[in-house]
Amino acid sequence: MKEKIETLAQQIHQKLIDYRRHFHKNPELSLKEFKTADFIKALLDEWGITYTSEVAVTGIIAHIKGEKEGNKTIALRADMDALPIIEENTHSFISQNQGVMHACGHDVHMASLLGATWILNQLRSEFGGTIRLIFQPSEEQYPGGAFLMIKEGVLENPTPKAIFGQHVLPDLLVGMVGFKPGKYMASTDEIYLTVKGRGGHAAQPEKNIDPIVIASQIIVALQQIVSRNTPPSIPCVISFGKFIANGRTNIIPDEAKIEGTIRTFSEPWRAEAHELIKRTAEGIATALGGECEVFIDKGYPYVVNDESLTIRAKQLAIEYLGAEKVVDLEERMTAEDFAYYSQIIPGCFYRLGVRNEEKGMTYGLHNSRFDADEESLKVGAGLMAWLAYKQL
Ligand code: NI
Repeated sequence: MKEKIETLAQQIHQKLIDYRRHFHKNPELSLKEFKTADFIKALLDEWGITYTSEVAVTGIIAHIKGEKEGNKTIALRADMDALPIIEENTHSFISQNQGVMHACGHDVHMASLLGATWILNQLRSEFGGTIRLIFQPSEEQYPGGAFLMIKEGVLENPTPKAIFGQHVLPDLLVGMVGFKPGKYMASTDEIYLTVKGRGGHAAQPEKNIDPIVIASQIIVALQQIVSRNTPPSIPCVISFGKFIANGRTNIIPDEAKIEGTIRTFSEPWRAEAHELIKRTAEGIATALGGECEVFIDKGYPYVVNDESLTIRAKQLAIEYLGAEKVVDLEERMTAEDFAYYSQIIPGCFYRLGVRNEEKGMTYGLHNSRFDADEESLKVGAGLMAWLAYKQL
């Protein structure tokens, strides 16, 4: 079966490159993936695969039923949305939708899942059970397409035994894949602080309440939540990327705004940290004569890869690709809405190498020059089909 899948992946490879380039040329933002969905639906129609569309606006759920005995369902998922980035690549298929770019590889994920779909559809007579194919919108935007699709029943009737998702990794050489059993990617929440003081002449600080100095102390104090309050066994990051105080050299403004993120790997600690952020920011502002409004926008939970499913998937990847092509990954503080699936059913979110230094494909995700080596599509499609087949 391994050879069969490899051959089919080889056969469909050129088409997958075409599909990926089509997606790349025509990127669409979160919950606006209408043409993207149309393109996928046309292929499913052509292949005679039944599906439900417009799940969570643009999502698609398709099914392939094996012809042998079996009643398991295995889910495979790809995300569909692009990012608000102006592409700076110079290849022949750069974005035709100005200011929107597939800079996170979701074009590769969709083309790979289409490849796995085509391969598994060819192999219907060889397995029993059902493959559920999930084309999911809006991974990049809260509350996340995964959350919305789950609300619309994507994990029901019946509940899949397992779900697989893959994501490109520009640090990993093309041809390779990586796995991490257990906790893999962090929960993420956005922090919005508005510090209110009283503005006035910078030469008369005693007559004002300086929101910039208060906000500065809040930022420093919040770092201590990580170093002094977080249990050392739990990874946690608090970072601020925005600090706006619109005064001048001689004007103290009325308020300062700070925006940041908190990422961690424990739900109880996450809740406690939110309280601490609120208490610290409000307390410091009050002590210094000002006020602080705290808003924490709760994002995705952490991604947990089911231990036994992921260890087994890694073993299967070694069988499919060879041991030298499969690596272990560290946990990371980036986030993914695949987390929602993984919190409900056994999930395995693994990484697909797309790096090629000779071709200059070394830029990171969300970079305006990010590009993926398309050789990865063969592995992306074939391995996913192999993992699903072996689960049934
Ligand atoms: Ni992504």
